[in-house]
Amino acid sequence: MADDDDFVVTPWEVSGDVDYDKLVERFGTSKVDEELIKRIVGHTGDLHPMLRRGIFYSHRDMNWILDAYEKGPGFVLYTGRGPSGHTHLGHLMPWVFTKYLQDKFGVELYFQLTDDEKFMFDLNMEPEDTKNFAYENALDIIALGFEKSKTKIFLDTEYAKTMYNIAIKVAKRVTFSTTKAVFGFTNSTNIGSIWFTSMQAATAFLPTELKGEKTPCLIPCAIDQDPHFRVARDVAPTIGYYKPALIHCKMLPSLAGSDKMSASLPSSAIYTIDSPKEIDKKIGNAFTGGRVSVEEQKEKGGEPDICAVYQYLYYFFDWDDKALEDRRQKCLSGELLCGHCKQDLTALVTNYISQHQEKREKARDVLEEYMLRD
Ligand code: TYM
Repeated sequence: MADDDDFVVTPWEVSGDVDYDKLVERFGTSKVDEELIKRIVGHTGDLHPMLRRGIFYSHRDMNWILDAYEKGPGFVLYTGRGPSGHTHLGHLMPWVFTKYLQDKFGVELYFQLTDDEKFMFDLNMEPEDTKNFAYENALDIIALGFEKSKTKIFLDTEYAKTMYNIAIKVAKRVTFSTTKAVFGFTNSTNIGSIWFTSMQAATAFLPTELKGEKTPCLIPCAIDQDPHFRVARDVAPTIGYYKPALIHCKMLPSLAGSDKMSASLPSSAIYTIDSPKEIDKKIGNAFTGGRVSVEEQKEKGGEPDICAVYQYLYYFFDWDDKALEDRRQKCLSGELLCGHCKQDLTALVTNYISQHQEKREKARDVLEEYMLRD
């Protein structure tokens, strides 16, 4: 929640200049440190660039998850999406990392599509809208290549019979005043929104119910979703489940500046359904760290740290540390101009999205095989 700092991070709002170190303190999570990274790499054999770059930078109970993997009973993965629209590149970040964890640890993934959430939080959405977007988003999930036999995707409204029976156990233990404190709800918040956190928590306990034995659960997500899981962790022991563990990433910034990409401003994000023309236009208009004139930029250099184009390369599109540092130095010295970086990023994004779109189309044929139904 907002305090003296001028940034806000909740599951529904990310604004201001987020101080990620402060957020770790504010949320009471732990930093991913060298020792933990070493332990993860001991199992994965390679260091994912999102760990190396400090993009996945915070966690809760990761060591317990690794203990469970090493000594039994193992663990499962859980992540999700609130289908309020099409998928953008920010959403893909935690999913790409989740895929890496699934591949390396060979574990199951439960993927929750919270169509109920997006209906209840957005007055302009009808149930059919969020359901349609849920199936559109599911194509993006499958396109990333998750292992079919180990991945179960569901919509809250369609898997309701199973979910409801777990969610009521959570809801019974969560007071209105807790949701006010954690999420900033007020007396005028609709009761569906207040209830919703019990559905997001319930998925962390779903594997235990399905398997009939207590099952550790690891949730990779951006740090904006952590408040739901603070509630889930508080409640878990009182209703006979393990507390879910988490590993959090930072937020891919908006193309228009530093806050979260906004669904109400489509030009601030690149969507997986965007055409090459749209990508070209969005990156062309992106906020950069450039100066007002070419002369001034050559003289003073650019500012990569505030540049959305540089951030996109850093977070997603250029994993070559040396090449990226080289670009940074050339920007700082004024040798490299914004048009050049925009061109490079446009080529990388267009290529990535066109490959993704091919896989996304193929996903239609196998979609049903991934769906969990009751
Ligand atoms: P949603 O749809 O807002 O976001 C889906 C996932 O993407 C992450 N995310 C981002 N990551 C990096 N950069 C960004 N700019 C960015 N924007 C969003 C979110 O943290 C999330 O991991 N209520 C949830 C759906 C949900 C869920 C879950 C998410 C249900 N169960 C378990 C994570 C884990 C939602 O609306 O996510």
